[in-house]
Amino acid sequence: MARDIETYLQDQGGKTTLRFLTCGSVDDGKSTLIGRLLYDSKLIFEDQLAALEADSKKLGTQGEDIDFALLVDGLAAEREQGITIDVAYRYFATDKRRFVVADTPGHEQYTRNMATGASTAELAVILIDARKGVLTQTRRHSYIVSLFGIKDVLLAVNKMDLVGYDEATFRAIVESYSQFATELGELNITAIPISALKGDNVTQASVHMAWHQGPTLLEALETVRIDNDLSGQAFRMPVQWVNRPDLDFRGYSGTITSGQIQPGGEVRILPSEHTSVVSRVVTYDGDLASAGPGQAVTLVLADELDVSRGDVICSAHEPAQLSDQFAVHLLWMSERALFPGRQYYLKTGTRSVPCVITDLKHKVNVNTLETQAAKRLELNEVGVGNISLSERIAFDPYRESRQLGSFILIDRQTYATVGVGLFDFSLRRAENVTWQALTVDKNHRAAIKHQKPCVVWLTGLSGSGKSTIANLLESRLHDMNRHTYVLDGDNVRHGLNRDLGFTEADRVENIRRVGETAKLMVDAGLITIVAFISPFRSERRMVRDFMSEGEFFEVFVDTPLEVCEARDTKGLYKRARAGEIRNFTGIDSAYEAPEAAEMVIHTDQESVEEAVERLMIDLTKRGILAAD
Ligand code: ADX
Repeated sequence: MARDIETYLQDQGGKTTLRFLTCGSVDDGKSTLIGRLLYDSKLIFEDQLAALEADSKKLGTQGEDIDFALLVDGLAAEREQGITIDVAYRYFATDKRRFVVADTPGHEQYTRNMATGASTAELAVILIDARKGVLTQTRRHSYIVSLFGIKDVLLAVNKMDLVGYDEATFRAIVESYSQFATELGELNITAIPISALKGDNVTQASVHMAWHQGPTLLEALETVRIDNDLSGQAFRMPVQWVNRPDLDFRGYSGTITSGQIQPGGEVRILPSEHTSVVSRVVTYDGDLASAGPGQAVTLVLADELDVSRGDVICSAHEPAQLSDQFAVHLLWMSERALFPGRQYYLKTGTRSVPCVITDLKHKVNVNTLETQAAKRLELNEVGVGNISLSERIAFDPYRESRQLGSFILIDRQTYATVGVGLFDFSLRRAENVTWQALTVDKNHRAAIKHQKPCVVWLTGLSGSGKSTIANLLESRLHDMNRHTYVLDGDNVRHGLNRDLGFTEADRVENIRRVGETAKLMVDAGLITIVAFISPFRSERRMVRDFMSEGEFFEVFVDTPLEVCEARDTKGLYKRARAGEIRNFTGIDSAYEAPEAAEMVIHTDQESVEEAVERLMIDLTKRGILAAD
C-alpha cells in the first residue's frame, strides 16, 4: 500500500482495471471484507501483516484468528490524521485484473462521499447483513449507485455464518432486493452469499454453502464485463489552457476525456462551432501519431481560431451538444440549502459559468425513492429541476458521458462546492425564446428624459430607514425633473409578491422578482429606487449582475439592530421577540451586510436630509444626474 500507486499500476500494465465502490457500514462487515480482499491478494506488506497479527492477538476480537477490520480501520485512522480526503481509494491486483476500490462511509450524512465514489466506479458491491436483510440504507446506497450510472451490482449477503449458512435466508433477501431494484431501471445483479470473517465465497469457494452455484466475490470481480473503454467513443477534450510560448507556436492543452485523435483528425470547437483539422498532437516526449482517453496533450490546429480555456474540442462528425437550459438531477452537498432563483457557478470540464436553478420540480426521498414536491434542497438531498446558464456550453447527457454529462455547483461568495449534478437533457428553451432587439432601446428612452437610468438599491434591516430615504431621494430627483420610480418592499409585497412570505426561499424569490422588475424599469429609462431588506449577498449580487456596468448603486443603510428595535415604528420587533412573527430579519433570520456597497449611510449618525444630500452628490459624481 505504501508503494507508489502510479508505479504499482504501471507494474500491473496490460491488465484491465475495474473500479468499484463498496457500500455498507462497518457493521455490515465492510472493513473485514476489504481487509480480506487485500490480504488474500497479498497486497499487505510483511511489517503490516506482523502488526496485524500482533494486534489481532492483543485485542482478541476474533480469538486466534486475524481481525481484518483492524487493517482497514487502522488505515482509516491514519487517513483521518492526515489530509482529509472524502473517499479512500485502495488498490490491489490479482493475476487477472487490477482493482481500484472506493471505500465510502455508509451513513446518510456521507451520501455526497458515496456519490463521489460512484461517479468514477463501474461496479458496486452492496453489502447486506444476512441477519437484517434489505434495510433503508441498502435502498439509499442502491439509488445513489444507479443515479450515478453504475450498471453492475454485486449483492454481497454477508455474515452467512451467523444464519447457519441457510440457503432460504439468502434466497429471501435476494428476492426482496430484486423486487426493489426493478424501480431503479436496468441493473445487473449478481448475488453472492459470503462470510467475510470466515472467508466463505470471498476468494475461496465456501465448503459450507455447496448450494451456491455462482462465483465467489473475487471471481465475479475478475470476470464482470467492463464497459469502460472510452477510446471507442466520440473525441472530446476540454481545453485547460492555451499554450503560446512564442509567436510561432499556438496549441491547446488538455486531457482527452474520450475518443482518439491523430494528425489529420477533423475537429469542431464548442461553443464557437468553428471547425478545423489537427496538424500535430504534441507532448513533452515529442509528437504522437495518435492519443486517447486520459492522455494529456497539446493539439495544434491547421487554422488560426479563437479558442480559449473552457472550450471543448470535439470530433467534427460527432460533436457534443450546445445548450444553456437543462433538465438536471442534483445532489446537494452544502449545509446551506439550495433555492431556486439563487445564482451559483456551474463548472463542467474546464468551464465555469453563472447559473440559476429556475425550477425545482421535486426531490427524491433517497431512502424510499418516493418523489415529493420541494421548494428547497437540503444537505444530501437529491432533486430534479431545470437549470439556466448565462451562456451556452458544450455537454453530453450523463447517460452518454460521465465527464461532459456531470457538473458541480459552486457558491459565488465562498467558492465552496455546494452540489453535484447530472445533465439529463437540453431544454432548448433559449433557442425558441430570444430577447427581442427593439428599434427604440434603453438609451433612446433615457435620452428624451435627459437622464442616465440606474438602480439605487437600498438594503438594511427593517426599520433602518430605507423607505424614508427612498421617499426623500425621489422627491429631490422629481424636483429636478428626473423620471423616477420607487419599489418599496412593503408595497410590492401587496401586489406582485403577495404570494411570498419570509422564509429564506421566499426572500430569494422576492428579490429575484424585484430585481427583474428594476431591470425593466431601467430599460424603460427610469432612475429606479429599490427599498427592500434584501438580506442575502447572493441575491444582491445577482441583481447587480442583471444590470450593465455602472447601473447598480448598492446603498447600505447601516442602522444597528438596537436602534431599529428601539424605534420599532411598526411594532414588529416587539412581536418578533414575543415569538409571534417567525423568521424576522436580525432576530431569527440572518442579515448579511454588504462588503463593498457603493455607499454606506449611518442613520444614527446623520440626518435623513444629510444622507440624501450625500447620495445626490455621489450620483452626480457618477454622471447619473448630469443633464445632457
Ligand atoms: S426581504 O427580506 O424579502 O427583502 P422586504 O423588504 O420585501 O423583505 O419586506 C420587509 C418588510 O416586511 C419589513 O419592513 C416588515 O415591515 C415586513 N415584515 C413582515 N414580516 C417580516 C419578517 N419576518 N422579516 C422581515 N420583515 C418582515
